[in-house]
Amino acid sequence: MKKEFILSLDQGTTSSRAILFNHDGEIVEVAQKEFRQIYPQSGWVEHDAQEIWSTQLAVMTEVIAKANVKLDSIKGIGITNQRETTVVWHRKTGKPICNAIVWQDRRTAEYCKSIADKGLDTLIQEKTGLLIDAYFSASKINWILENVEGARKMADNGELAFGTVDSWLVYNLTKGEKHITDVTNASRSLLLNIHTLAWDDELLQIFDIPKSMLPEVKSSSELYGHTALEIGNVNIPIAGIAGDQQAALFGQLCTEEGMAKNTYGTGCFLLMNIGDKPVISKNKLVTTVAWKIGDEVKYALEGSIFIGGAVVQWLRDELGIIKKSSDVEGLATSVSDTNGVYLVPAFSGLGAPHWNADARGTLVGLSRGSNDAHIARAALESIAFQTHDIIKAMENDSNRSIQELRVDGGATGNNFLMQIQADIIQTQVIRPSITETTAMGAAFLAGLAVGFWKDIEELKSLWKEDKRFKYAGDVENHQAQLKEWKRATETAKFWANY
Ligand code: G3P
Repeated sequence: MKKEFILSLDQGTTSSRAILFNHDGEIVEVAQKEFRQIYPQSGWVEHDAQEIWSTQLAVMTEVIAKANVKLDSIKGIGITNQRETTVVWHRKTGKPICNAIVWQDRRTAEYCKSIADKGLDTLIQEKTGLLIDAYFSASKINWILENVEGARKMADNGELAFGTVDSWLVYNLTKGEKHITDVTNASRSLLLNIHTLAWDDELLQIFDIPKSMLPEVKSSSELYGHTALEIGNVNIPIAGIAGDQQAALFGQLCTEEGMAKNTYGTGCFLLMNIGDKPVISKNKLVTTVAWKIGDEVKYALEGSIFIGGAVVQWLRDELGIIKKSSDVEGLATSVSDTNGVYLVPAFSGLGAPHWNADARGTLVGLSRGSNDAHIARAALESIAFQTHDIIKAMENDSNRSIQELRVDGGATGNNFLMQIQADIIQTQVIRPSITETTAMGAAFLAGLAVGFWKDIEELKSLWKEDKRFKYAGDVENHQAQLKEWKRATETAKFWANY
């Protein structure tokens, strides 16, 4: 086997990771460091961008040392990152002018509403594929310009740079030489026209953002530059960039139209490859760039669920009915059904396809015999039901039915959850043997650019199935359950709006 590697930098919301892959697409070594979550006010979430960089650099150095590989055997670096999180730094000093505003931060919700109230939602959705929401970067940049002292003036003088986390990492890896981003990250900003793949002047005007702040938009797989760090005097090519959910879609080799993946983390992100033309959703999903390789662009429909695996943490930390997350499977399977209990974990509102910020968590159908096992089972079912609702919206928007769902992320180790997922969506669920799909996708993109792997066909031979969960439910019961779930979600929304 060739002793050559691709290094994937996976900069997520709660930790920075570095994973080294060999030519067979296997993981050689992993390093991970968590960093601080900063909550200055209710609804605000920030990261220290310097800490993002220092932890990323630390894990990169650590993984190389642990694997004991020569630096020049690393043929390329692929970057994948938490998306939308907004960093603004000064071009001269290279220092951020404030903390990064994280994708989960809701401080600009009112401002976004004021933009929507101007009747701009259709125009914005048609250009960007997105909904006007505080989730995306544009309103966060605007907030920084309006609220950080001197920021507007510096921006007007061309002194400030904006970037999502990929951009910030490349800027630091190249010691300030490159200010770039890739199309997938750019497509989450509300400033990119997803048809032309260029920054859009009209959108920049709407959000009052000077164009001079923006990075150059690149494809997802090309030689962007080289590292300029003092480690071993080797300049490693930086050759792949994609937002983490798009990277996971690629890492799952969902390269054909109609293929879909779901990543089960704190939340869930379901993406479906819709081919080379963007479809604008009629069901409150967002349209995003999946990747650009050479001249080929692929688009995806995306649905985000805010509370996925986090519902299990809730059972553990707030209800205290399990000691560790992995106990949930045993508790949930100790009963044969939920006995009519439904849990809608709308703890921070509902994401796609509802986009209801005011909905709140709702537990319905309790009877005198309801117990912790019923609630645990209902919690797992809620992950599967939410996924079901997104799949139905996607099938409606794309006019095709999803034949199989590829899954990754922490919760996919739970066989019971994967089986109920297959039963609730009546579609087979496939878990690959390597579930570090996000990092793998970034490695694949970099590897293609530097010729480490030849083409997508070769990558397909590296993707291996671990387990397939087939639909084994009973049709009548299934219909009844879906009806009850729908009633429960309506209750969660009604509770907020009453
Ligand atoms: O859009 C937000 C998403 O990219 C965050 O992903 O895995 O860091 O929670 P993750």
